[in-house]
Amino acid sequence: MSKIKKIAVFTSGGDAPGMNACIRAVVRTGIYYGCEVIGIKQGYQGMIDKNFFPMNRHSVSNIMQLGGTILKTARCLEFKTEEGQQKAYDNLKEAGIDALVAIGGDGTFTGAERLSRNFNIPVMCVPGTIDNDLYGTDFTLGFDTATNTVIDAIDKIRDTAESHDRLFFIEVMGRDAGCIALRAGIAGGAEAIMLPEKETAIDDLINTLEAGAKNDKSSSIVIIAEGDKNGGAYNVAQKVKEKIDYFDTKVTILGHLQRGGSPSSFDRILGSRMGFAAVKAILRGETRQMVGLRGNNISFTDLEQSISGHEFKLEEDLMEMSTILA
Ligand code: ADP
Ligand code: F6P
Repeated sequence: MSKIKKIAVFTSGGDAPGMNACIRAVVRTGIYYGCEVIGIKQGYQGMIDKNFFPMNRHSVSNIMQLGGTILKTARCLEFKTEEGQQKAYDNLKEAGIDALVAIGGDGTFTGAERLSRNFNIPVMCVPGTIDNDLYGTDFTLGFDTATNTVIDAIDKIRDTAESHDRLFFIEVMGRDAGCIALRAGIAGGAEAIMLPEKETAIDDLINTLEAGAKNDKSSSIVIIAEGDKNGGAYNVAQKVKEKIDYFDTKVTILGHLQRGGSPSSFDRILGSRMGFAAVKAILRGETRQMVGLRGNNISFTDLEQSISGHEFKLEEDLMEMSTILA
């Protein structure tokens, strides 16, 4: 029998499709195993403001198909201070909360790690970010949906690019990681993909584009992750134009539309599996872990390892393949 009787769940950092499926799984699994489940609204801000409410099976009806997060999310600077963390913990204690399930990115995990280290409260983290940049999981919640959204946009832009014989620079999200750019670029047949992890010289890009033009390519699409070292799609377009002016170029920034939308089946199932596994792990007495998916199996990684993102690596085989197939 577990000593944990009251579990709280919250989402924090950037929202991601699939978070709701995860919240639903946490609530229903917790209730199934005889726990009370508390929702915390607006992440760490909600902990500081006592924005807590009890959840039942019905609280999570009909949310699976919704993008965003019904628990809302926030970026909370106060929580980064020791005083903020103490206040949050005091409020959790007052509400009788025994354990936490945190859904978010590495900032969220860092906050959860601080809480558990300083106050010994059990925490289990679920990777929820469209960026797919956390060590210890093949996929994060929302990445599949966001990538599909980008592919849909590339397909549409391809229609008009081809009709007008234009060169399009499409900027996608990924401040530090190029996962969305890489996969969407491959699946969308982009002529070039520019990533934060690998600097692309403008001259090399121009060579690629000119080689395509010589091979009768009348339109081209270049995918640029927002964290690319050349400074984003407008800068890349400008630098290319300064060197060659015969392409008719256009720039599209996809922006926050990549964060929204109904989650794909993959993200719905991933969120459900991770939420289910997180609660079961907490009830087994585990703490300070990130639930992940490795090779289609649920896995657990020490929170500290998942936070020290230097171990996260973009797939080299995909990078090599993308340049050969383009
Ligand atoms: P994400 O979880 O998507 O990486 P953020 O980096 O914005 O998003 O982090 C979400 C929240 O986690 C922050 O607003 C803050 O409240 C908390 N957080 C982030 N970094 C720390 C830290 N070093 N110490 C304590 N809390 C943190
Ligand atoms: O969710 C991850 C992410 O989309 C990054 O790729 C992006 O740089 C960042 O969040 C932007 O988030 P916001 O506009 O909420 O600060």
